[in-house]
Amino acid sequence: MPVAATRTRPPGPPMGPVGAARMLVTLVRRDQPPGRMVQLGREYPRICSIGTARQPAYLVSHPDLVRELLVVQAKAVEKGPALLAAGVLMGEGLLTLTNALHRPRRRLVNPSFHHSRIAGYASVMVEATDALDRRWATMRPGTEIDLAQQMSALTLEIVGRALFGAELGGESEDVYRSLERAMSGWEKTLVPGGERLLSLPLPVFKRMWAAKEGLDDLVRRLVHRSYEQRGDDVVSGLLDSLSEDEVRAEAMTLLLAGHETTANALTWCWHLLSRNPKVAARLRKEVTGTDPTYSSLSELPFATACIAETMRLYPPAWILERQVTEELVLDGYTLPAGSIVVASQYAIHRDPRWWRDPSVFDPTRWLTAEGSFDEEAPGQPRGAWFPFGAGTRQCVGESFAWAEAVLVLARLARHWAPESLRDPRLHAAVTLRPEGGLPARLLPAPR
Ligand code: HEM
Repeated sequence: MPVAATRTRPPGPPMGPVGAARMLVTLVRRDQPPGRMVQLGREYPRICSIGTARQPAYLVSHPDLVRELLVVQAKAVEKGPALLAAGVLMGEGLLTLTNALHRPRRRLVNPSFHHSRIAGYASVMVEATDALDRRWATMRPGTEIDLAQQMSALTLEIVGRALFGAELGGESEDVYRSLERAMSGWEKTLVPGGERLLSLPLPVFKRMWAAKEGLDDLVRRLVHRSYEQRGDDVVSGLLDSLSEDEVRAEAMTLLLAGHETTANALTWCWHLLSRNPKVAARLRKEVTGTDPTYSSLSELPFATACIAETMRLYPPAWILERQVTEELVLDGYTLPAGSIVVASQYAIHRDPRWWRDPSVFDPTRWLTAEGSFDEEAPGQPRGAWFPFGAGTRQCVGESFAWAEAVLVLARLARHWAPESLRDPRLHAAVTLRPEGGLPARLLPAPR
């Protein structure tokens, strides 16, 4: 039950012109916002004001308030303005639809991501991973690769085949480059009022619009092919119920939302394994000599724990944003309609109130005494771990992502132990990436 409003504005750092300018600089510097969220969470452990008089904005840093925002009072908020520009890129799909339009669409898309369907996509995950494994085997040991790029290309291939039932094949390079350009335009708008920048004739936005046109074209062709072939893929499952425009928007949304996130989880996981050889050795012990498939996922508790622990430290979606549509009472404060409320997975996942040794990469915290994986095992309160969000807007691809990340990691870790060549800075934009990719030396797994 919401608490009766008794207070007005939550406390917060000074937000006069100097404070606001400082916040803007923090937001523009992509390595700084996650750390700033951690700091604010320490200073204001429940809720704080981070907006201006014109645009009230709040950061919630307590699991109870995260649940309140995303689950209990979800009807009083909509997606925030940072996603407006994404709507321009993707069209109106699950990620950006208003609550009213979202409900029926989600009901339509859900069956395609039901557990029973993931087994089918998992064979695509295995095939694509093994193809990468074979490519790596043709390289000289010690070859330098960019793991971020390799993981991104792999997850794009997987989600492309699951969505359209077809290999992106020769187009995969184009899609990859276009998505990069589209995302780098979008991320420039992730500042207060940023959506207004989109109409400026800056090169970064020109490239973004050109990339969008290319992607639109490709998705149009792939959707047409789905109309003709009608397979077991996600898009075929939508054709009878949505208009062609709606199918295209949903396909574009799933393509964008479904590849970068998992790629980042895998990239950071390789980095953490490279820096924690004992953890890597335990993972190898679990996977060496096995043939990880969808049906053997439960036999991979440590690989699963490595992914969970990676998403704790480096959540691919590192912040969630909502805009208040009806006056909302949160922690006893009345937040006016129009306010923005954010919650940062990055900050809450590293908060010592809920996590012992929060900065240590320790996958064993996710294992029960019997050695099986359990999301509740660390003993954190609900809302202290939310890599996939929560409530009605929780990630539709969560089961897909788990299967994909664990299978890719387990299959590749049998043969490879890439050595990360630097400790990358954070690049916190749409997702949390390593700045400049993740250069690594490709080394075979020690026997
Ligand atoms: C490790 C991988 C992934 C992470 C961390 C992740 C994270 C998230 C988060 C946090 C949200 C909620 C956003 C919000 O509440 O504002 C979300 C929504 C969504 N995700 Fe994922 N995601 C992942 C993989 C995927 C995959 C593989 C797909 C599809 C193939 C996907 C498709 C979507 C869609 C369509 C939504 C919008 C859902 C809705 O509002 O109904 N995601 N994701």
